[in-house]
Amino acid sequence: MARFSGLHLLFFSFIIATGTISLVSGTVITIVNSCSFPVWPGLLTGDKGAQLNDGGFELAPGATMDVTPPAGWSGRIWGRTGCNFDASGTGSCLTGDCGNTLKCPVGVGGATPVTLAEFTIGKDGRPDNYDVSLVDGYNIQMALTTRDGTGDCRSGGCDSDLNGSCPNDQRVLDGANNVVACKSACEAFKKPEYCCTGAFDKLETCPPTDLSKMFKAACPRAYSYAYDDKNTSLFTCTNANYSIVFCPKA
Ligand SMILES: *[C@@H]1O[C@H](CO)[C@@H](O)[C@H](O)[C@H]1NC(C)=O
Ligand SMILES: *[C@@H]1O[C@H](CO)[C@@H](O)[C@H](O)[C@H]1NC(C)=O
Ligand SMILES: *[C@@H]1O[C@H](CO)[C@@H](O)[C@H](O)[C@H]1NC(C)=O
Repeated sequence: MARFSGLHLLFFSFIIATGTISLVSGTVITIVNSCSFPVWPGLLTGDKGAQLNDGGFELAPGATMDVTPPAGWSGRIWGRTGCNFDASGTGSCLTGDCGNTLKCPVGVGGATPVTLAEFTIGKDGRPDNYDVSLVDGYNIQMALTTRDGTGDCRSGGCDSDLNGSCPNDQRVLDGANNVVACKSACEAFKKPEYCCTGAFDKLETCPPTDLSKMFKAACPRAYSYAYDDKNTSLFTCTNANYSIVFCPKA
């Protein structure tokens, strides 16, 4: 017995050491609903990976929920509005719907137009990449802020209500003619110069348009179109925790 105690000690120190490491590198994304109405966050893991928090849940006004992505996780988080789900979680949303279900299925993102928080969580000491994107349009105000991280940890987001300033032919209306979302110029007009496709498929040939500039002016810290200026749209931070706040100004 005494012969193995050194080995046992080594074994237990290994468990303690790995336990400590995973605690230190664990990222927490806290989702906060500051809106006066419920929001149903939807989550999509890239490459059809396992969904976090079952892919979606309801957040009452004032409620918060922690999401803990593993190192290397890449995916999107958005807010669904105007949802109606039955007890089994079947139903639909006015915006951001992910296939008529509370828990977004593997590989199914939010219906556009939708404001997106996008993450690639760093691995092995590499920084995280994160942004708020209006490339797929806008449906809700969102702030994305860091806590505790090191580096150039800037806040991303879209604090302005783009529903109000949305041009007529980009508006999405509910049954009572309220504006509930704003389509991207690409989705509304399907032109290559707005979608950065065809001859416009690179940074050099797809400059900002009057319509993408309208999104950028309202939300300067969000991606307004596919080749937006990275310095003001895509951010990095190492070893951070994050907060996503819906209706940050409410
Ligand atoms: C992130 O939050 C978790 C849980 O609150 C905490 O244990 C961890 O230390 C935080 N990370 C950093 C880098 O502060
Ligand atoms: C934009 O949509 C949100 C959420 O659906 C709604 O609360 C808000 O009143 C809308 N804004 C306008 C100007 O219609
Ligand atoms: C990047 O953006 C920040 C904040 O807007 C600004 O201070 C900085 O000068 C920019 N850097 C470059 C290289 O454009």
